[in-house]
This record gives sequence, structure tokens and C-alpha cells, in this order.
Amino acid sequence: MINLEDKLGLPLSLDEETYQVSFGEGVPVVEPGVRTLKAIYPVTRDEEPDGPPILYWMYRDVCRPEDREKLRPDRLRFDLSVFVPAKLGSELLKSSGHFHPLVPGFPISYPELYEVVHGQATFILQKVNNICARPQDLVVEDVIVLEVQAGQKAMMPPDYGHVTVNTGAEPLVTVNWVCTDFTSHYYSVEQMRGFAYYLLAGEPPALERNPMYREAPPARYAVPADVPELGLISGRPVYTECVRSPNKFAFVREPQKYMEEMWAALAFEV
Ligand SMILES: [Fe+2]
Repeated sequence: MINLEDKLGLPLSLDEETYQVSFGEGVPVVEPGVRTLKAIYPVTRDEEPDGPPILYWMYRDVCRPEDREKLRPDRLRFDLSVFVPAKLGSELLKSSGHFHPLVPGFPISYPELYEVVHGQATFILQKVNNICARPQDLVVEDVIVLEVQAGQKAMMPPDYGHVTVNTGAEPLVTVNWVCTDFTSHYYSVEQMRGFAYYLLAGEPPALERNPMYREAPPARYAVPADVPELGLISGRPVYTECVRSPNKFAFVREPQKYMEEMWAALAFEV
């Protein structure tokens, strides 16, 4: 069993053989949703690639009841996901990828804050001209590759769709704070067979352009940076920080007020 408590801030552990999460005292058990191999076929590089029958488990709204009550007015939800260390054909195992809708009354979409609790991840972020555009009208405006180690945070700024890739030999455990007000968009990702770049297995893993997109800018590489005013401090669990200071996490719900601070969470290679 892998004890997740130090990095997570909740007494959970992970069985590295079955990938199932055990919930410790004071945290109600959550039944996970699963992403199966077949369900991800629309967004893989290879047609119907080999892979494990279940790619990842999604535990939604993991929370101590007293913390959920405290955070209810903030409209924040805390989720946990477990990704198998494996390949999807020629690709490293990944999430489906999705975009978020616009914040009502503002021309930007909801952001999301991830943290890697165990293992290592690469997040591929992409911004497009219109998440509902037909394939021939879809323009990729920016691509960011964010490499994240255990204990580090991963900011998904407004307007950037995102895919999580397990780049390590261990199971990957991620958590995220997200606003409860919306559901994600999968449409443009599915009709384009994924994002503009795939991350292929290899030493080191290599980016490959998805030929469904007519063009795409070169990827920009970034790593996480601390932003204490948003509660983002390496090694300190975002669960604990948010429960202690929910106001610091208002950017999840009202990103229009915190654009500069959110972008400070990404340190770009020059
Ligand atoms: Fe998301």
C-alpha cells in the first residue's frame, strides 16, 4: 500500500497492485467512475490501441464532511484520479482531454488546479480559436507542455483544454480543485482524435504532431512555480491549503480577477 496522506492532506492509501484507493478515518468512501480502454479510442493516435482494460479511476468530491460544509458557499469540488502506468499503443497512457465552458458574463473559461500526489505527469494544454469549430475551421493558438513531479501543482489557465499523461513507471495520482458550476466539453477533442500533439512512449517520451490538425504552433515547455497568494506552495497539499484559506482559491470560481497570478504558476523555459 502507498500511503498518500503526507502529500494529499487526507488519510487515503493506494493499493499499487489493484490501483484501488482506501479511505481512512473521517473521509467517506467515494465510488469511482472509470475510463475504459474502449472509451478512449476516439482520441488515441493509433486505431484501437492495446492498453489496460481500465485506464484510470475518477473519485469525485473526496472531502471530509465538515470541510465540504465549510466550502459549500465557495462552489469548489475536490476530485482524485488514479492512472495506470502503461502504454496506449505507441502513446503513454493519458486522460481523454477536455475543455471547460465560459464563466457566465465573461469571455474566458473556467480554470482548474491540479496537484500530483504520487508519480509524475505531463499535462498537455492547448488553446483553440473556438471549441465548437468544425475541423477545417479549428485553429490551435497555443500549446503548453507542463512537466509535474509529486508535490507540485499544475495550473490549467482559462481557455486551455488539458490532457493528463502518466509519464512515470508508478501509478499516477492527481487531485484537482474545480468549480462545481459546469460540465466539460469533449466535442472538439473527439472529432480531432485528441489534441494537436501526442506524447509517445520512449526514452525520453517524444511529442508527435497530430496530423488531423492542419497546423499547430511549436509546444512551449513549462514547469510549476509557487504562487503563495493562490495557496500554491510546493510540498503543501492544496487540499489543506484550500480548507484553511478558501479565499485564496477564489480564482477557480472567478478567474477574471486573478489572471496574472494564475499565469505566474507556470514557469516557461526560455
Ligand atoms: Fe478540466
